[in-house]
Amino acid sequence: MEERLEAIKEKLKKYGQEHLLNGYENLDEKKQKVLLSQIENIDFDLIKSLYQNTAKEIKKSDAKVEPIEYLDKYKLKDKFKYYQEIGEKEIKQGKLAAVTMAGGQGTRLGHNGPKGTFDIGLDSHKSLFELLSENIKNEAKKYNVVVPWFIMTSDENNEATIEFFKKHNFFGYEYNKNIFFFKQGKLPMVDTEGRILIGEDGLIKQAADGHGGVYEALLKNGMIEKMKQMGIEWIYIGGVDNCLAKIVDPVFMGVTIDKGVIGASKSVVKANPKENVGVFCKKNGRPSIIEYTEISPEMAEAVDKNGELLYGESNILCHVFKLSAIEKMAVEPLPYHSAFKKATYIDRTGNVVVPETPNAYKFEAFLFDAFGELDDMAVFRVKREEEFAPVKNATGVDSPETARTLYNSLYKK
Ligand code: UD1
Repeated sequence: MEERLEAIKEKLKKYGQEHLLNGYENLDEKKQKVLLSQIENIDFDLIKSLYQNTAKEIKKSDAKVEPIEYLDKYKLKDKFKYYQEIGEKEIKQGKLAAVTMAGGQGTRLGHNGPKGTFDIGLDSHKSLFELLSENIKNEAKKYNVVVPWFIMTSDENNEATIEFFKKHNFFGYEYNKNIFFFKQGKLPMVDTEGRILIGEDGLIKQAADGHGGVYEALLKNGMIEKMKQMGIEWIYIGGVDNCLAKIVDPVFMGVTIDKGVIGASKSVVKANPKENVGVFCKKNGRPSIIEYTEISPEMAEAVDKNGELLYGESNILCHVFKLSAIEKMAVEPLPYHSAFKKATYIDRTGNVVVPETPNAYKFEAFLFDAFGELDDMAVFRVKREEEFAPVKNATGVDSPETARTLYNSLYKK
């Protein structure tokens, strides 16, 4: 034990993180063990370089960016049926599984709990999870199959999520038979000096590593293996907050298969140049997304000869991948983006500090940064009023109110 502690102290000294053991003596034996193994598992070089990157101005990439081609669902004409039949064949053979990324909390919505448990205020008071479960089940029923559902949680909300599902009898799914939960990875948070924070519990303060961790988490948690055993070949991946997400979609799958690609995404037309959505593009000839925080005003406003936005295919976090694509993306390291957040921590003197303004960096990988690993992708334009009603903010745009209106008008139709 002494030796182990000494080795850890040595390591911490090397990286200027000795403060991590300040409260060690006050922890009970169980927590001491956890803290030590947390420290042993930190990639200090990675954290150091991520912190150093926060100080640098976002480097303008010199990649050649171009608009991407897309197919419009409503301009397929007689090919619609053709694609539909291709996709239906795969679905009927039970080759499709759904992954919902639900690692986030409903903080922005003022909701205390996993985002998926949020009630958007429909007359039925169904949660986002229940609405998504219905989207999957109702479509799957048409093909006489059950589409297995894999839900990505985080350390923060895993227990509460599973509890919620239990309470609702897994919405008709069978736990660990056709519904599975797996946790995404996490990374330590650092202060403005690059020091890793200790949380209120005396342990390393960690935060979810972003939805880009989904591929690695699927692999590391044995979900890919499970999918293989179940004969799954295609995987839908989407967010938890779009209550209109069309998860089982034969036409979308048919387009993907017919194009001979191993990945595809749905898009909707960007409502206006300033809308907070990422847009599809090609970077150095490979599929990619420019995030709304990173697009220049000129690029956001640019139009083609028909007056349509050149970069107007918005990411609605609705993707389908071949299993082999996930395996490929799971082993490629992704870049991390930093976000400046409020994080409660224990200071050097052992006091709990609850900051009123952001004080710490959180590092996140984005799932679409892996798209460059795929040679090509299909982008499939669908209608916003049919497939995109995100719930992000408590009021205003993308709020429960806007989602409710879209939901009601689609289903009343
Ligand atoms: C996201 C997209 C943006 C897109 C918009 C559409 C990113 C970086 N941007 O923005 O391109 O146009 O949605 O609504 O994704 N999640 C996890 N674990 C994490 C982080 C997120 O599971 O560590 C899940 C969330 O629960 C949610 C989804 O990923 O389901 C999206 O995350 P969010 O932070 O809400 O992304 P936006 O900034 O809204």
